[in-house]
Amino acid sequence: MTERTLVFLKPEAVLRGLMGEIISRIERRGLTIAAMKLLQPTRKQAEKIYEVHKGKTFYEPLIERVTSGPVLAMVVEGPNAISIIRNMIGKTNPLEAQPGTIRGDFALNVQKNIVHASDSLENARKEIEILFKHNEILNYRKPTEAQYLL
Ligand code: RTP
Ligand code: MG
Repeated sequence: MTERTLVFLKPEAVLRGLMGEIISRIERRGLTIAAMKLLQPTRKQAEKIYEVHKGKTFYEPLIERVTSGPVLAMVVEGPNAISIIRNMIGKTNPLEAQPGTIRGDFALNVQKNIVHASDSLENARKEIEILFKHNEILNYRKPTEAQYLL
């Protein structure tokens, strides 16, 4: 099933110059980037995205970190995009993330784990709405999809 998911590269990824590398991985996998923008999330936006973690010890530092600088947000589309992206980013703690995954290749620290991705269809819908307006999300197909991929 074609799904849309919210992915954002956290400030540490942008500041380390890893945007191109990670965008490349998403493109090469065959997924489609339906929307993309660089922004510094407001506290309100970050709190909504990470609402489920409110009260946990890592919540405050997480909000602080994600709002501290530029984030590259994307709506990524494709068959089973949510699971595909979650598998590509790897386990939350880079210590457990396999080599070949984004976190397994670029991160050392759970608090600086490079990337966020929605973990369910319901959360993806909610999170996309927090960062994107409807008219910022494009509907298009890459020619390779029909011919070679799907
Ligand atoms: P994300 O939401 O950012 O995609 O990450 P995730 O689903 O893999 O992990 P989640 O459990 O949702 O945690 C959200 C973010 O909080 C930070 N965290 N720190 N023990 C800790 O210090 C700890 N646990 C989680 C991470 O930055 C994680 O990505
Ligand atoms: Mg999460």
